[in-house]
Amino acid sequence: MQDLTADAGRAIDRAPDGRAVDRALERALVLAARGPADGPNPQVGCVLVDPAGAVVGEGWHHGAGTPHAEAAALASADRARLRGATAVVTLEPCHHSGRTPPCSVALRDAGVARVVYACADPNPVAAGGAAWLARHGVEVRTGSRSGASPHVLDRADRLLEPWAAPWTLGRPWVTGKTATSLDGRVAAADGTSRWITGAAARAHAHTVRTAVDAIVAGTGTVLTDDPALTARRPDGSHHARQPVRVVVGRRAVPPDAAVRRGPGTWRHAATHDLAAVLDELGKDGARRVLLEGGPTLLGAALRAGLVDELHAYLAPVLLGAGTAAVPDLDIATLAQAQRWHTHETHRLGEDVLVVARRTERKH
Ligand SMILES: NC(=O)c1ccc[n+]([C@@H]2O[C@H](COP(=O)([O-])OP(=O)(O)OC[C@H]3O[C@@H](n4cnc5c(N)ncnc54)[C@H](OP(=O)(O)O)[C@@H]3O)[C@@H](O)[C@H]2O)c1
Repeated sequence: MQDLTADAGRAIDRAPDGRAVDRALERALVLAARGPADGPNPQVGCVLVDPAGAVVGEGWHHGAGTPHAEAAALASADRARLRGATAVVTLEPCHHSGRTPPCSVALRDAGVARVVYACADPNPVAAGGAAWLARHGVEVRTGSRSGASPHVLDRADRLLEPWAAPWTLGRPWVTGKTATSLDGRVAAADGTSRWITGAAARAHAHTVRTAVDAIVAGTGTVLTDDPALTARRPDGSHHARQPVRVVVGRRAVPPDAAVRRGPGTWRHAATHDLAAVLDELGKDGARRVLLEGGPTLLGAALRAGLVDELHAYLAPVLLGAGTAAVPDLDIATLAQAQRWHTHETHRLGEDVLVVARRTERKH
């Protein structure tokens, strides 16, 4: 990340210390998480701190078309207390006039003296806010330059990772899902797999479906389980937001397959080239894709490095035999194991969800 302190050419005497930046960033992250995780815009939080260290404004982005976090924080503050204030933001302020005016200009015009941000904006259209602010007399610092701790900066990165995927990965963010027994089976010896996990885990999986733009499954799963792949409530009714359903594989999808019915759209990609499928979905505007399996397709995606996050639902069930969650990944010895990072864990009734991410920590 670029440090713009020198460019600003201003004294840094009343800059908050690392612990104060941590506290403000942690609060900003809590605020950011209140925004929608499934939209085209990032989840961003902003805290305004006066020169005495008091919080004088807070805001977060409520979704596309609404004020950005900085504008919301400025609107919540008593203008008289903003002179000399520090804005602590989870993402670099934008310098872009879209549906809302640039946050860089709004912060400078409000008399904010200093901006600390955790993550640089990867979106070339909106980026440039830090440089503009620095050129216009506002002291700008990255979180790491301000002494923020690595774990707080890591949390900020993690919050934005899925949204940033089109720029950082050049494709949508891919979440792979498995529902397994404790001994790692997704189906019993006879191929039956309904249901390994309980109602709470299945309801959770449906809420995840509502937050993605596309659900992808292989022809094997469609032919064996005949899933609808729609996002439903526990009572069977459909959520208003339905991701596009994509079946990948060369075999035909039967005319009476459940995936053909239901609200929203579906498509059949008669190919084994998952990268091309993701590319196509990305061109259609998809940012988040849920890869629901089965094991053959998930294994191919893992081998190709096309899975960024795993949602592993674990049920306290033993099957002894049956289909493994993931087929052979060409790993011959433990030293070659794919090592992931535990991002979150949730208890769901009798089951446990482990959310793991592939990405290395940057801080
Ligand atoms: N518990 C769970 O989480 C869970 C989730 C899903 C499925 N399952 C279970 O998994 C079993 C089905 O397993 P499955 O492995 O056959 O399902 P699958 O992964 O859904 O389908 C495999 C098929 O996908 C096609 N395919 C598409 N892209 C491919 C690629 N890059 N590489 C290889 N194949 C590709 C191939 O079919 P074509 O010949 O058509 O090209 C392949 O045979 C069922 O028993 C189901 O119940 C369990």
